[in-house]
Amino acid sequence: MTGTNIPASRLRAENLTLCYDQRTVATGLGVDIPDRSFTVIVGPNACGKSTLLKAMARMLRPKAGQVHLDGAAIASYRTREVARRLGLLPQTSTAPGGITVGDLVARGRYPHQRLLRQWSAEDETAVVRAMRRTGVLELADRPVDDLSGGQRQRVWLAMVLAQQTPILLLDEPTTFLDIAHQVEVLDLCADLHAREGHSVVAVLHDLNQACRYATHLVVMRAGGVVAAEGDPATVMTADLVEDVFGLPCRIIDDPETGTPLMVPAAPRRGSDDPDDQPPTTVMADSQGRR
Ligand SMILES: Nc1ncnc2c1ncn2[C@@H]1O[C@H](COP(=O)(O)OP(=O)(O)OP(=O)(O)O)[C@@H](O)[C@H]1O
Ligand SMILES: [Mg+2]
Repeated sequence: MTGTNIPASRLRAENLTLCYDQRTVATGLGVDIPDRSFTVIVGPNACGKSTLLKAMARMLRPKAGQVHLDGAAIASYRTREVARRLGLLPQTSTAPGGITVGDLVARGRYPHQRLLRQWSAEDETAVVRAMRRTGVLELADRPVDDLSGGQRQRVWLAMVLAQQTPILLLDEPTTFLDIAHQVEVLDLCADLHAREGHSVVAVLHDLNQACRYATHLVVMRAGGVVAAEGDPATVMTADLVEDVFGLPCRIIDDPETGTPLMVPAAPRRGSDDPDDQPPTTVMADSQGRR
């Protein structure tokens, strides 16, 4: 392939103005999702991460600008066609009352069904595989309403996986999950991207997980602005974290992976405030010294 033939990325947001009624969340917002990447979006609360994801999944119509999917304006596709190409795990969802886990996950197959081709063996296989990969297969007959927060989160993820789309947009897929399940879900996302060629976009709050897993990191700041993007090793600096999150920190090497590890600065002690006394226990520093 020659340089001039390099295709534009499958999913691209260009010059977006995003609003809810009178509230403008972002203006001139542009993001290119590199194909087959694991793109992670981080940024402070309310900066517009979920709003951006909703716009990229056509759940929110931009006031200006466009989202391009596979070379065409996303607005020009039929709904079912968008759902065959792109799956969204929203930050919050409500299941229909009384629905079982199996039935909810099966709804992920809706874009693949037609009037004359109802439920198929292929649908069944996709649903079972998605439930197995997210560890919810044994919950199949349970009502979704009765599940714990973490179980429910994995059921929603299973529904998106069952959709079998080449592009996955996951808004905080690790919320409600214990640390082992967080790692499991992130490993699953990494597999989907690295072994199966999906483009995965995830919003995360844990900067260290973001740096471990992202092949492309997008850092947003208040006001729906992209502050920096690229390789986490280049993007994640102490100055950026302080600038975007207002948090003084140090960046050291993750001893396990060598990726950037953000360590928040210890609070400064020594004021006259009696509530501001040094801790009585001896704390280890970032090198493990006491
Ligand atoms: N449905 C809505 N109607 C009106 N305003 C909204 C709506 N949803 C979000 N907002 C506002 O838009 C802004 C961006 O919200 P958004 O949910 O995109 O933030 P976020 O970056 O995803 O934050 P968080 O990290 O807390 O999930 C916020 O000020 C929020 O209050
Ligand atoms: Mg959000």
